[in-house]
Order: sequence, then C-alpha cells, then structure tokens
Amino acid sequence: SGPDTMSPTGQATGAAQARMAQSGAHLTNAQGTRLHDTDHSLKAGPRGPVLLQDHHLREKVMHFDHERIPERVVHARGAAAHGVFKSYGTAATVSKAAFLAAGAETPVFVRFSTVLGSRGSADTVRDTRGFATKFYTDEGVFDLVGNNMPVFFIQDAIKFPDIIHAGKPHPDREIPQAQSAHDTFWDFVTLHTEATHHTLWNMSDRGIPRSYRMMEGFGVHTFRLVAADGSTTLVKFHWKPKLGVHSLVWEEAQIAGGVDPDFHRRDLADAIEAGAYPEWELGIQTFPDTPDQTFEGIDLLDATNLVPEELAPVQPIGLLTLNRNPSNYFAETEQVAFHVGHLVPGIDITDDPLLAGRLFSYLDTQITRLAGPNFSQIPINRPHSPVNDMLRDGFHQDAVHRGVAPYRPNSLDGGCPFLAGADTGAYIETPVRVPEATKVREAPESFSDHFSQPRRFWLSMSAVEREHIIGAYTFELGKCYEQAVKERALQVLANIDGELCARVAEGLGLPAPEPTVPPADVEPSPALSQVGQSWPTD
Ligand code: HEM
Repeated sequence: SGPDTMSPTGQATGAAQARMAQSGAHLTNAQGTRLHDTDHSLKAGPRGPVLLQDHHLREKVMHFDHERIPERVVHARGAAAHGVFKSYGTAATVSKAAFLAAGAETPVFVRFSTVLGSRGSADTVRDTRGFATKFYTDEGVFDLVGNNMPVFFIQDAIKFPDIIHAGKPHPDREIPQAQSAHDTFWDFVTLHTEATHHTLWNMSDRGIPRSYRMMEGFGVHTFRLVAADGSTTLVKFHWKPKLGVHSLVWEEAQIAGGVDPDFHRRDLADAIEAGAYPEWELGIQTFPDTPDQTFEGIDLLDATNLVPEELAPVQPIGLLTLNRNPSNYFAETEQVAFHVGHLVPGIDITDDPLLAGRLFSYLDTQITRLAGPNFSQIPINRPHSPVNDMLRDGFHQDAVHRGVAPYRPNSLDGGCPFLAGADTGAYIETPVRVPEATKVREAPESFSDHFSQPRRFWLSMSAVEREHIIGAYTFELGKCYEQAVKERALQVLANIDGELCARVAEGLGLPAPEPTVPPADVEPSPALSQVGQSWPTD
C-alpha cells in the first residue's frame, strides 16, 4: 500500500483512512461490534462475582496489558518531527543520489534523543544527543543516523555492549539514571583511552544543549559518495543549525531538569506549533578516496577522529526544515526504526569497523523491539517509493501478497520483479579493492593516538568553555566512589593538558599526575568552539 496521505483539512484518505483505528460514531470492540457499556464488568448480580465470560472486559484489559513495547536499548528517550529536505544540488557532482539533485524536495522524519537515560528520564542531562534523519527518497529510504558530537567513544563496534554496560546505571542499585557521574562510566573511559575525545566533548557545553533546535549533527563515520560517472569521494556529513549552536549552563540544566523534565521535547513541539520551524543546513566535508583513506594524516576510518573544518571546510548541500509535529507519539516517534544500512544509490559505506557493527546491530535490535521482521510496514517506516520485495509472512505481516512464486526467475506469476541494471537506479556496492590481508583481531597502528585530538579540542575552547569543562569533570568525577578510578581519570587529563588536569585535581582534592605521553603539538581549530557559532547564520 502507498504512503500516508492527508487531505488539506488533515483528514486521512485512502490507505491512511483504512489504517485509522477510530472511525464511525459508535464505540465498538476490536471486532467492530458496537458496545453499550464499557464502564462495568459483567457480574452475577450488582454485588456478585465478575464472570469469566465477560469477553469485553478480557479484550480491554488484555490489550492494555500489552500496550508497552521494549524501549530502545540505547537512545530510549526521544522527540521527533516531520519535515522536508531541499537539495541545493551542490552535491550532485559527487553523488548520483536523486534526492541530492538540484531542487529535489524529500519528506523527512527526524528523531532527537539522549543516549543513556530510560524513556522517562529528563531531557537536560549531560549526555550525547542522537540526531537521526529518515529521508523518504524516490529511490528508497536513506537514514542518516548521527549524533550531536562528531566523534564516538570507541573505534570498533565489538566494544559497544561494553561501553553501554558501563554507561547505563549500575546493575546492583540501578543508579544513576541518566548521567555519566559514576564509577563504571569513568572506569571504562579511562581504561579504554580511545574514549578520551568523546568524553571531553561530553564534559564540554555540547553535553548540555540549550535546545534540539540549536544543536549541530554529525554522521560521524566517513561515507563514500558515488557520482553518476562512477567516481567516488569520501565525506563526513554535518548538520548546521540556522539558530546557531547554544548550550545551557550546568545550573540551568539542573533547574530545567527538575522544573520541566520535558524541556527539550516541549521546546521542539512548541516551536513547530508556533510556526517557528527549525532549520539546519546539511553539509559535507570532502576527501579524496585514496587507497589509505586518510586525510592530512588523519585516519578517516577511526570514528574517534574528526577532521578540523579549517582543513576541510563544510560545504552546504541542502536545507532541512522541520514543520510538523507527530500526531501520535507511539505510532511515529516510538516505532520509527532507523538503520545505517538504509542507503540509496550514490551513498555507500567505508570500512570503519564501528560502522560495520552498526550495520548488523540496528536491524537485529529492531526485530526484538518491534516484534518481528515486518517493521518496515509500520506507517512511519514505509518507503515512499514502490516496494516489490520477495519477503513474506512473519509476525505482524500487514500485506496480503498475491501470486504463488516469491522467487525469481519464476514462470508462474506471469512474470516476476525484474532486477534493475547498473544504469536504471539500482543500488550497487562500490567495487572497492580489499587489500590482501591476514585475518586478525587487532586495531591498526593508526588507531593508537588517543590524546592529540582531545588536546586540539581543549586548545580550541574559549576561556569560559574551559571553565565549564573543568567544572563538569570535577562534578562528574566527584560522584565516583573509587579513588583509583578518579586517579586514572586525572592521568588521562594530564595527557590532554596540564592546566585541565591541575584544576580538576584541585577540585577533587587529589594530586595532579605528570603526563605519560608528551603533549601533542597540535594547532587549535577555532571552528570547534561554540563561540564562533553562537549566532544565527542568516
Ligand atoms: C540507536 C547513533 C554507534 C547500536 C541509535 C540512535 C542514534 C544512534 C541516533 C537512535 C535512533 C532513533 O532515534 O531511533 C549512533 C552513532 C554511533 C552509534 C552516531 C556511532 C557513530 C552504535 C554502535 C552500535 C549501536 C556501534 C552497536 C554495535 C544502536 C542500537 C540502537 C541505537 C541497538 C537502538 C535502535 C533501535 O532500537 O531502533 N544510535 N550509534 N550504535 N544504536 Fe547507535
């Protein structure tokens, strides 16, 4: 069936109407039979026992009992909105994706989230924020599943269960709910020093955004764009908010978290309702697709790295406008299923080992969360392009498939879906050459520098931002019970910067250690500071 359609008056039409549970003037049971009373159980006399034969009672309570589905294992708390992406056409030279052609307009659904808190946690906690965008393109769904920070904690997806176990509440007391202020978090990020860069971003003002409308977004990984002539370019995706980048200060975040735990989702919904539609420009940093996949000495397959904008400017390629709130939280925001493997012709992946694990994980988790393999039939997940697959049956199968031969070629169904050729819009994996290699479980040497990029970030901060970072480390580490964890965290800070380490050590009442690696000789990147991005871009 086709996509949702709404008449100008907001009335559902066609397929959408057929799916609307509530229609008709009378209250009915789930089978459409009219009810005359839904407030009283069937009893043997007004004060007698309730009868098992009350099938309306059983249906009503049974359905209620099963209203909840599992929350996402990460990014459980979120808020979302519909919108449109208008392409400037500037990426058309590097990608053949139809939605990046000049003037193309594509409907989108965007979900913002915190990572660690449960579905009912507060919005303004210190955490990374998810920024996931579903583009319903004419060539299929493209999902850009990013965060508000350009780097990630780990370099290899095999550690993802470990970092999340460390970041989620302690398994004994189930505290804290949604903050990085605890021993297991700091234990992990100091034992796995590749996490240093992301942790520093978390402790900076980026960890407490003022509003979803005022956050940057990043695809984090390096992607490979493919042009019509087959040429390839490596890119990193960036979302730049038109309202500028703004954060709360810590005290504001605390007060907002108490007074209004829904601070961010309310802000997003209120702004859209008032017609103050939030906008972001999508941009790309481009890098030559060289065999070593590095740029200016930076390994592009290491997701703990960013490429400073001074070295590779962000080139705007389109405008995202969020202009419609969801009408049902469960149907849309909760049931939406993003996946980094939802790609369209013209956008391909790289061998980033973190991305490889994600390509498995999203599909796998959604089979549990959305109860079976048919979640792409849920309205919010349906492509807006025709679907003619050979997938059949399974839990929550909504389609009534015709024919007898879901395989190809077949000679029974009067022809079968044809495969598109290379020049007819098919998705074709880029034939990247895989170097001859020995099977190993090890990281490349280029993944071993864990302190240069954090030092660049620290050196790029303004004086005020540095004070906030010092305050954040002191507060969050101050919540740890284990002295050894605090000391190891100070050692990591010493390897970033002496002043940062000394000030946090002073706050914790501990001695500041000497660095174990010499301070990296890096230039600041002014674009990393929020100060230069605080004002609206128009
Ligand atoms: C969910 C981003 C790494 C597993 C999400 C969401 C975002 C996100 C934005 C929320 C999607 C939504 O709003 O529904 C990222 C980024 C990563 C990263 C930017 C690194 C660059 C990973 C890794 C894994 C993983 C390495 C596993 C190996 C998951 C899972 C969910 C999720 C299981 C829940 C999905 C669902 O229930 O639908 N991630 N993630 N993520 N992520 Fe990641």
